Amino acid sequence: MYRSADHLVAGFPQTFMWGVSTSAYQIEGAVERDGRGPSIWDTFCTVPGAIERGDDARMACDHYHRWREDVDLLQTLGVSSYRFSVAWPRIQPTGRGEINAAGLAFYDRLVDALLEAGIAPFPTLYHWDLPQALEDAGGWAERDTADRFADYAAAVSAALGDRVTHWSLFNEPFIFTSRGYLFGRYAPGRRSLPAFLKSVHVVTMAHARGYRAMKAGRPGLSVGSTFALAPCEPATDTPDDRWAASYADAVFNHLFLQPLLAGSYPRAFLESIPVGALYLKAGDLDEARTPLDFVGVNTYYRLVVSAGGRSRPALPYFLFDLRSDARGAGGHADFSSPRVEPVMGSFGREEGGRTAMGWEIWPRALYDVLTGVTQVYGRIPLYVCESGCAFDETPGEDGRIHDAARIAYHEQHIQSVLRAVHSGADVRGYHAWSLYDNFEWASGYRPRFGLLHIDFATQRRTWKDSAYWYQRLCHGARARLRDVRSVAS
Ligand code: FCB
Repeated sequence: MYRSADHLVAGFPQTFMWGVSTSAYQIEGAVERDGRGPSIWDTFCTVPGAIERGDDARMACDHYHRWREDVDLLQTLGVSSYRFSVAWPRIQPTGRGEINAAGLAFYDRLVDALLEAGIAPFPTLYHWDLPQALEDAGGWAERDTADRFADYAAAVSAALGDRVTHWSLFNEPFIFTSRGYLFGRYAPGRRSLPAFLKSVHVVTMAHARGYRAMKAGRPGLSVGSTFALAPCEPATDTPDDRWAASYADAVFNHLFLQPLLAGSYPRAFLESIPVGALYLKAGDLDEARTPLDFVGVNTYYRLVVSAGGRSRPALPYFLFDLRSDARGAGGHADFSSPRVEPVMGSFGREEGGRTAMGWEIWPRALYDVLTGVTQVYGRIPLYVCESGCAFDETPGEDGRIHDAARIAYHEQHIQSVLRAVHSGADVRGYHAWSLYDNFEWASGYRPRFGLLHIDFATQRRTWKDSAYWYQRLCHGARARLRDVRSVAS
């Protein structure tokens, strides 16, 4: 049985942010409203077979129209922070040039409403919805896109930075570059090793330029970025599997963090790709080094990695394929090139239970990641920007949703964060993914990650038991903060 929510918050610093997380494309709908341009995900959704059951996000959670009701929900929930994302194609319909005032106004109103409700807005600038026009010009595999991103980041922070202090540049760069440009599983659906490798370096440079463009306009902002991170364990204790796990760690966890925080790409990665494949220019690595003000962490699983029964080849030995269960039902990459050999990763072992995504429930992963980043890069401020689980659940006979497994999941993960804090990690916030069920990318509406349930036919939002639980936790945290403030005054 889970512990009371109050008990859980007592161990955290009073100023710790308790929040929930969403992203624009997964919740907004209204893809043609107020001058929004098409994004790569709108296009990808029209590709037969790309999204389970042929789902698309034209309506999603209709948040674009229901945002006021949703801010009321957030306020009732009691969160102190709300992580959402800004849709680039609403701000610049073709990804460049003039700002679309009607698109910007949506976020302007949202920010004001959040602040009025006592909630800190925590926007992400890029959560995967690239304007289609930029993809047509080469997308993230084209260097110019880094400058387009910096312009966009500067424009949004100039407009909202008087009220918004915390900004995340990107969401999970490794996931969207690998699944989008290498595995073809996410928009724009490309399967090209050269395009993927170029996109890695362009997105790194986009971080660097975006960060500096925002700070030039508003030096006081706290600007970081958010990464999918997971501990990588060898499947067996053989030298090949151990090597495969350390390689997977270099690629999955450090491919973006290391150039940004330390000015170099991981050596194992560089050794595994053709020389020149990143198209580095002189001075790039100096420029790439960026003093991020925080690192956002999204952790959903541990990765268990094997060399796939092969011994380590002498050739460029590239990347790894992820399988959805330990036995593996095959991945998505096209590894037909003879120079490319996948290292195999799976989402956990058989020890923990599994969520509806097939991911093992392994709370320790979050502890390992938070303390691991601290060890490697020093005591940088960390925010858990996403933590959560999908379960197949439907309302019970009483009309309520008894999602005890989700409560247990959050409770255990929050405890893991607390242990990381006690071990010296500077963790400052926890955001549950997600506020409500939403469009889960290529999986469509099947996986339900929300604290609130959505009936997508009626848009009715229903509180799951986990939402009530999280509400008690957030209200407990707010009460503590009030007590401290009243003692101090
Ligand atoms: C993360 C994404 C987020 C959501 C969760 C389940 O990788 O950032 O948008 O899809 O997974």
